[in-house]
Amino acid sequence: MDEAPELPAWPDPPTDVPAAVRRLKAGIRSRIEASGHTVEEVFAVIEGLMVDRVAEIKAANAESDSAWPVVDFEVLADGSSTAEVFEQVRRRGCLVVRNHFDRDQARRWDRSLADYLDRNRFDDVYRGPGDKFFSSVDSKPEIFPIYWSTAQMEARQSDRMAVVQQFLNSLWRSSSDNGEPWFDGERNAMYPDRVRRRPEGTTSKGLGTHVDAGTLDLWMKPEYQRAFRHVFDGSIERFDPWDAAHRTVGSQYPGSTMTSVFRTFQGWTALSDMDSDQGVLRSVPIPEAIAYLLLRPLLDDVPDDDMCGVVVGRSFPITQRWHSVLLDGLSLIPDVQAGDSVWWHCDMVHGVAPVTDQRGWGNVMYIPAAPWCPRNERYAEGVLAAFTDGSSPGDFPEEHYERTWADRFGVDDLNDHGRRALGLEPIDS
Ligand SMILES: [Fe+2]
Repeated sequence: MDEAPELPAWPDPPTDVPAAVRRLKAGIRSRIEASGHTVEEVFAVIEGLMVDRVAEIKAANAESDSAWPVVDFEVLADGSSTAEVFEQVRRRGCLVVRNHFDRDQARRWDRSLADYLDRNRFDDVYRGPGDKFFSSVDSKPEIFPIYWSTAQMEARQSDRMAVVQQFLNSLWRSSSDNGEPWFDGERNAMYPDRVRRRPEGTTSKGLGTHVDAGTLDLWMKPEYQRAFRHVFDGSIERFDPWDAAHRTVGSQYPGSTMTSVFRTFQGWTALSDMDSDQGVLRSVPIPEAIAYLLLRPLLDDVPDDDMCGVVVGRSFPITQRWHSVLLDGLSLIPDVQAGDSVWWHCDMVHGVAPVTDQRGWGNVMYIPAAPWCPRNERYAEGVLAAFTDGSSPGDFPEEHYERTWADRFGVDDLNDHGRRALGLEPIDS
């Protein structure tokens, strides 16, 4: 039986945040101390791991193009060299899939997206950014709040997307020791996200380094306290970033940065060729880094009512002040071509590098891997309704541009992958 003191928990965001943070920190400290270790001892273990991994990553970045593992789609499709690939991706928590789609196919999708926006006079009807998250880059959007184009839907429901998503899901532990399933890795829920189209000549500050996993909820909600139980009870050596236990039931605190679903990996598919010095994605490719981030606020140099700057409703910032050890490991993706796809573990530290006078386009469709589970099934109901009437899906600003657009993807265009991802029965069932 667990004799250690229970953590104080807040199923909803606390009203008095500083008081809650003080109580939380005292609670985590005493729970860790009940294990016979101090917070400092436990933190030293995870910090040591970060230092070793960053050294390894820097060597990999210097030796080859990038510390990011790169695998050709055909390797995933035919199951060859699986053990080695599994090992590489589990170690780094990220992956570039080469030739995920044929380059010409991706370029056709890119053109068809541009045509879809033109035919529906998007430039005339655009009302400006619907949220603050991506709006640092002025008037013309980089992120287009478009969800239901033929290009996006064809990619989402393709056989080739299913192959990659299944592989990514299979890197996780999807059931408990006694066989209780956390998710069904062979079925994906649709998580419609936006597209990015960044034209030649763009100068952009990029996007600050952050994690998408959550904010204060990661420490305060009972489900996350259970998911990160080994971080908070002094058994950090047993923390496994690939264990889906308790992640597929709850949700995050509400807010513009929240994600309702459980994603094994966030990802995008390239619709243009992009060189790695043209303002591309970069990550700290250490899946265990979330444990470091969760323990860092407990050290003495952080004010007692502060969680290293993490607050509800804004993305979780990774900063020089608190996390400089990690930032040394930032690794750009290698050069990619249209049709390649890029994936990173849902907890992973990432951002977008700045660019001046960008060469060529920088276009992507965001398509993650979100396996079927109670949490994702709940979200899928709203997604089906949004798909049917062309609305923006639940996690995104209520912009609804496509409601009146005649040529969006229709229910009759769905194949079995698409139907099952929206919670519908396959056609010949
Ligand atoms: Fe992000």
